[in-house]
Amino acid sequence: MKGLILSGGRGTRLRPFTYACAKQLIPVANKPILFYGIEALRKAGLTEIGIVTGNNREEIVTAVGEGERWGVRITAIHQAEPRGLAHAVQVARPFLGEDGFLMYLGDNLIGDDLSGMVERFNAKNADAMVMLAEVQEPERFGIAEMDGERVVRVVEKPRQPRSNLALVGVYLFNPLIHEAINEITPSWRNELEITDAIQVLVARGARVEAYRLTGWWKDTGRVDDLLEANRVMLDWWPKPVTLAGEVDANSQLEGDVELGPGSLVAGSIIRGPVAIGADCRVARSYIGPYTSIGAGSAVENTELEHSIVMEGCSLRSAGRITDSVIGKNTTVTGVKSRPQAHRLLLGHDSFLVIS
Ligand code: TTP
Repeated sequence: MKGLILSGGRGTRLRPFTYACAKQLIPVANKPILFYGIEALRKAGLTEIGIVTGNNREEIVTAVGEGERWGVRITAIHQAEPRGLAHAVQVARPFLGEDGFLMYLGDNLIGDDLSGMVERFNAKNADAMVMLAEVQEPERFGIAEMDGERVVRVVEKPRQPRSNLALVGVYLFNPLIHEAINEITPSWRNELEITDAIQVLVARGARVEAYRLTGWWKDTGRVDDLLEANRVMLDWWPKPVTLAGEVDANSQLEGDVELGPGSLVAGSIIRGPVAIGADCRVARSYIGPYTSIGAGSAVENTELEHSIVMEGCSLRSAGRITDSVIGKNTTVTGVKSRPQAHRLLLGHDSFLVIS
């Protein structure tokens, strides 16, 4: 069985970050989201992995290489335009050949071992298997209607949902799916929808089964989801955490704190779970729970909580910052001289709350 990670797309909901960076490479608990997916597939025994990329091709290829780091073989597959999940499968056809495959949405995080699902798919000899989770707002998702373990209908974003079981980002297919994809036409949003292809399988009487997610699942498509994913991941990460940097006698560390090599904490309180990358400097500051700080950042005389700070940032006398996502190499400083005004250099589609 092969793995197929979908890592193209437009990422419009994650602007402005996606102007500069592939959304799948945004760090959660200081690790790119995509890496969690690769690790999950590897853990399920999949070592031949195709990654579908779009405009972000170079960036993704540079980040993952050929997969040596994980002991897998990665093939980058170019999708010239994000024309839907089923279109991505179509584009990946030469890589997939006649093999069964696990399709994984590269911006999703799953707190569940995928081995169980792969084993069940193989044992049941199913044509397709979809991972399902109960959701609060079914009208926002692709929804499955069930008869026991069997899926009898899938509907994309139904106006009047008949179930609250959403298709979350993991699917298993045998090669029948390719024929089904060839039968579908673009939806109202001009995408080839994987739900439509699955519905073709159901209508043809193919065995489409469900696998209920037991752990948690996070789609990181929106900024608030990123913070939520960061929170969950910081809580979930394997203990014990590493403390490779230096902490001076005037600092206090509570809970799980990860500190990368070459980092220094001085005169500060850090209340975990917190992840601080390599070569950071935290001085006279408070870092509160559910915060991650990327490598090479400096935080001085600032309070920071429930936030993602990416690499190479500088926050100095910046007051109290919470619920924030700060992109790479950003500077935030307080002002002591007059005029005591906010000075802003914000990119397109930025979002700012001033108190
Ligand atoms: P989505 O989040 O549904 O789509 P998107 O990335 O275009 O985001 P937005 O709605 O904010 O513009 O995509 C889920 C995953 O699948 C994500 O990792 C991107 C990937 N994808 C592709 O690889 N090819 C595609 O054609 C599409 C639509 C998505």
